[in-house]
Amino acid sequence: MFRRTVRGMRDLLPDEAEKLRFIERTAREVAKLHGYREVITPLVENYELLSAKVGEENRKRMYVFEDLGGRKVALRPEFTASIARLVAVKMATAPKPIRLFSTGTLYRYDEPQSGRYREFWQANYELFGSSKPEADAEIVSLTNNLMEKIGLHDYHFKIGHIGILRGVLNQEGVAEEQQNSVMQLLDSRDWDEALRVVRDAGGGSEKCLDTLNTLFEIKGKDPNTVTQEIRETVQDYPEALEAVRNLCEITGLLEAGGVETDFVIEAGFARGLEYYTGIIFEVYVPEMNAALAGGGRYDKLIELFGGAKTPATGVAPGPDRMSLALEKQGTIPSISGDERIMVIPVDGKLVGEAFRISLILRKEGFCTEIETMGRSVSNALSDASRRGITYVVIVGPSELKEGKVVLRNMKREEQKIVTIDQAIAELAEAR
Ligand code: HAM
Repeated sequence: MFRRTVRGMRDLLPDEAEKLRFIERTAREVAKLHGYREVITPLVENYELLSAKVGEENRKRMYVFEDLGGRKVALRPEFTASIARLVAVKMATAPKPIRLFSTGTLYRYDEPQSGRYREFWQANYELFGSSKPEADAEIVSLTNNLMEKIGLHDYHFKIGHIGILRGVLNQEGVAEEQQNSVMQLLDSRDWDEALRVVRDAGGGSEKCLDTLNTLFEIKGKDPNTVTQEIRETVQDYPEALEAVRNLCEITGLLEAGGVETDFVIEAGFARGLEYYTGIIFEVYVPEMNAALAGGGRYDKLIELFGGAKTPATGVAPGPDRMSLALEKQGTIPSISGDERIMVIPVDGKLVGEAFRISLILRKEGFCTEIETMGRSVSNALSDASRRGITYVVIVGPSELKEGKVVLRNMKREEQKIVTIDQAIAELAEAR
């Protein structure tokens, strides 16, 4: 019972943790490069806030409980609701646009499988205050920048626009609740059931069903051709036409900005979260079925949480799946080019001296370990080599008398007697 983690929860061993932190570090760097400042929100929030627009599938999978004060609370299944609350309440008067970044763990009672866990990570970017296509283009381009920077290749963006589907359904009088059910079904690619819900909801005119059926088939790589096909299909639905125009503007900006990546536009694409109002997208690699990132525009959430009307757009890349994708593509991220140094005292009497030298080296910024197992020099050297140590400093009595140590280059298997200052200079050169 104590030997196993709870189902869906994982221990990350050093190699895995290092890879995840590398992705997180890169995500933070991308945030900084694009002007996104970090905010930290709680892991536990009111159930009502988190469940409001998370969508039926995610709602069923939330970790919900009553705290000792009798409040109905939940572990966050995503960041967007918390960040929208924060902006509505605490940053209402902040100058727009507001660009915010967050990272941390999230909780969904998903069926555990490769790339799907009950505790997982996201790096989350939100841009508030702009309804312009350049804000959406920035979110897509930033996501592309992150995928590129961590070393992924052959990935593509699946792009849709929720305004196209909702534009048709609104005009046909399908109520929002039924529309949400339709989006959930489309998210799991259940086209037939989605059409049945539309028919039952009274939006089942032949024209509407034909239009939706045709939209479900439209998919392609060339934005101009695909958006033209969509435009022809929804020509009698002004709201949907407006959405196509918006999609064209965004893809046009990405093209003009030289964002060189593969886009696949799918007219029947929907996402499970209910708050989207504009462009939606996900990122995929051929080696995996699950999306590495998901995002889109949501213009009504801040209002729902009591704030002023505030357009918003954002994305959440998932470091767990990005790490898995790197592994499947055989990419080993160059996590740290740092030299790793080991200080070995020749005998027990020199341990204090070895401590002193290791402190000096760390002060100079070198990653320095000290031999703590009481091993002989030859055993300590084998251990250092097994663990990928790049330089060893051997502290021996005769060298020490002259203020010197032995500096051994483990890769070249060469060593020389040097002063500490000379050792520091050599290590700095190798860095
Ligand atoms: P999402 O598509 O639900 O969107 O999640 C975004 C990413 O989180 C996924 O693409 C995936 O990488 C990761 N993820 C989700 N569930 C799991 C899981 N069970 N195991 C491992 N990774 C997972 C959102 O959460 C939106 N809040 C994104 C957003 C931000 N939209 C606008 N702003």
